[in-house]
Amino acid sequence: MALEFAQRIHRIPVYPVASGYDLGANVAMLASNESCFAPLPAVVEAGVRALAGVNRYPDPSYAPLRRALADRYGIAAERIALGNGSCDILLAAGEALLEPGAEVVYAWPAFSVYPHLAAASGARAIEVELDAEDRHDLDRMLAEVTVATRLVLLCNPNNPTSTAVGLDQIADFLARVPRHVCVILDEAYCEFALAIGDTYASVELLARFPNLVLLRTFSKVYGLAGLRVGYALCGSPEFRVAVDQVRQPFCLNAAAQAAAVEALRHQDEVERRVVATIANRGELLDGVREAGLWVADSDANFIWLWLPASADEREVVDGLRERGVLVRAGASLGRVGALRVTVGTESENDRFLAALADVL
Ligand SMILES: Cc1ncc(COP(=O)(O)O)c(C=O)c1O
Repeated sequence: MALEFAQRIHRIPVYPVASGYDLGANVAMLASNESCFAPLPAVVEAGVRALAGVNRYPDPSYAPLRRALADRYGIAAERIALGNGSCDILLAAGEALLEPGAEVVYAWPAFSVYPHLAAASGARAIEVELDAEDRHDLDRMLAEVTVATRLVLLCNPNNPTSTAVGLDQIADFLARVPRHVCVILDEAYCEFALAIGDTYASVELLARFPNLVLLRTFSKVYGLAGLRVGYALCGSPEFRVAVDQVRQPFCLNAAAQAAAVEALRHQDEVERRVVATIANRGELLDGVREAGLWVADSDANFIWLWLPASADEREVVDGLRERGVLVRAGASLGRVGALRVTVGTESENDRFLAALADVL
């Protein structure tokens, strides 16, 4: 007899996981917006050292990492939430804030996990189309904020479209959202965004907007995707308390905590990697434009391009895969006929451009 599941299981979309992790080393992995740089040796050593003590549970208060982030961003440790990837905090936010009758507003296409929040909680999802340049349309989003709204998700830069809006526009938006509505500014890629400036700029908004939460990750710029470390800088401690309340304790393992603390000690190298990524991104964008395709102005470590109307997206993605290049099909991210391509090493990017020319 088939198992009988909760109703919500039938509503929750299945996350479009990337494939290809079993294909071996000679594949350009450009499908998941990971860093193409391996973690620094000191970061790996810190993780390995932590393994020697794993007969004990990890520090449930994540004290050293919380302190390191508090020092870096100048905000109280009690306003910092940590999670097993920033996804963990995002899903906990849905659980803590949403329920049937409530609404969550976000742009679409945006990060593929957002629809999960409404589906899991029974809340209503209000998806607001991006503008013609594939950017957030903040005015239209604001118009969708009602008495039922509990949560607004802004993805800046936006995954999958790579576009960012300036912080002046975000501040203006926040000033017009009622203070009881939580606004999560998902900044998984903020370190790569020239439109945002530096990583401290949005932190300043927290002092003005206690309902604001900045969601960030060690998975991208710090190259720790395989360890899963995310954090949230919160305008007030109540968000942190609520997301901790709905999750299991010890959600961040000991190796992940240790590696993240060490990663924060090497900001100069992180900065060099950002500069290299931005330079490679420029070349990738130029290459795609030279191929005659429309590509969004990227502010992230990936690009978003539209295929010619005559091309079949599935065939293009399969053709790239046969040539050893993995990218994400737009159909799996909310827009048929587009591709999301992570900025890789110079040779990976060249390989992608050559394969794309070949396939098209
Ligand atoms: C916009 C955005 N937010 C959050 C995440 C989650 O990252 P993680 O859970 O690895 O911290 C991702 C991952 O791709 C993302 O693209």
